[in-house]
Amino acid sequence: MQLRDVLIEPIGGDLVAFAQCCALDATVFPHPSLPADATHAVLVARASGSGPVIGFAATQRLGRRLAIIGLAVDAKHRRVGLGGALLRRVMERAEDLDLREVGLHVAVQNTAAIALYDREGFRPVRRLEGFYRRGDAWEMVKRL
Ligand SMILES: CC(C)(COP(=O)(O)OP(=O)(O)OC[C@H]1O[C@@H](n2cnc3c(N)ncnc32)[C@H](O)[C@@H]1OP(=O)(O)O)[C@@H](O)C(=O)NCCC(=O)NCCS
Repeated sequence: MQLRDVLIEPIGGDLVAFAQCCALDATVFPHPSLPADATHAVLVARASGSGPVIGFAATQRLGRRLAIIGLAVDAKHRRVGLGGALLRRVMERAEDLDLREVGLHVAVQNTAAIALYDREGFRPVRRLEGFYRRGDAWEMVKRL
C-alpha cells in the first residue's frame, strides 16, 4: 500500500467505518478514544478509497483548540506516512475552523507517536503526572 492510494475523508454517517474504527481503537488503546458523536469529529483513511478503515484521527473542539483524542494506524500499514497525512488533515480542519492550536496528550513512553508529532511541529508544553493509569503524559501543542 502506498500513500497515494489512500483516501482520507470525514466518517460522515458510515456505521461500518465507525465499527472498523472501534475495532482498530480496541487493538491499539487500553481505553476507547472515539467520541460518541463521531459524525463531525472523525477522519478515516481507507486504502483504495473503498477498502476497510486502516487509520483514523478523532478530534474534539475545546474553545480555540482542536484536541486530538485518538490517532491510530493499522499495524500492517505503518511507516508509509499515513499518521502524518491524518495529522495534517486535522490541522487543515483546525485552520478552516479558524482555531488557534491543535493539542493532544501522549504517553511519555510512546516514542513512535512522539517522533511523529515532533516531526509535524508539535511541541511538549507540560508533563502530566499520572495522566494515564500506566504513567505520565506529555501535553503537546502545535500553534497555527
Ligand atoms: C503513532 C502512529 C499513529 C504513527 O503512524 P504511522 O502511519 O506509522 O506514521 P508515519 O508513517 O506518518 O510516520 C511519520 C514519521 O513519524 C516517526 N515515526 C513513526 N513511527 C515511528 C516509530 N515506530 N519509531 C520511530 N519514529 C517513528 C518517523 O519520523 C516517521 O517518519 P519515517 O517513517 O520517514 O522515519 C502509529 O504508530 C500508531 O497507530 N500507533 C498506535 C497508536 C498510537 O500510539 N497513537 C498515538 C496516541 S497519542
